[in-house]
Amino acid sequence: MIDVNGTMYRDLTKILVTREEIAEKVRELGRRITEDYQGKEPVMVCILKGGVIFFSDLVRAIDLPVSMDFMAISSYGSATKTSGVVRVLKDLDKDILNRDVIIVEDIVDSGVTLNYLKGMLNHRGAASIRIATLLDKPGRRRVKDLKVDYSCFNIPDEFVVGYGLDYDQLYRNLPDIGVLSPGVYEKGE
Ligand code: PRP
Repeated sequence: MIDVNGTMYRDLTKILVTREEIAEKVRELGRRITEDYQGKEPVMVCILKGGVIFFSDLVRAIDLPVSMDFMAISSYGSATKTSGVVRVLKDLDKDILNRDVIIVEDIVDSGVTLNYLKGMLNHRGAASIRIATLLDKPGRRRVKDLKVDYSCFNIPDEFVVGYGLDYDQLYRNLPDIGVLSPGVYEKGE
């Protein structure tokens, strides 16, 4: 695995969450979910693309017969984002009627995406729906009553990349989570 002297790390101002801290929290969350879902076979839903690294570690920390499914979504442009509508680019393969669903995300920011998703999956007749996120930015929440059931880290409002999170599709493969140097994204504006 690449280390913190790798070239991509030069684009960070600092590391916010280390790979060791992530691994510990993911193990802890895996144990919690294992306890909470005893006797059940939850469907773990990975929200692509940001959720993919967290998802792959998390499912391996859960000692239950889980199934996995994947969804790709995209928010409409900023003008319509306030409407809370997201576009489904890739839908689930399997029906979730009467299933216990755990949505796995990399980050909850305004909460608009998850609020919409939760409503949509509820509509399809899931028995239960919970949200598991790696990162939460509570300071940015617009959907005030969104319940985030499992969260690993609360973070401040900074531009973070790594462990699934990107800037312009890059940095997702960093094993740690870091703050992107403004010089990097200001170049692209
Ligand atoms: C991110 C994240 C959530 C959403 C959170 O996805 O994975 O889906 O934004 O924001 P919200 O709480 O303000 O709705 P993004 O659109 O960056 O796509 P990606 O996962 O493919 O990087």
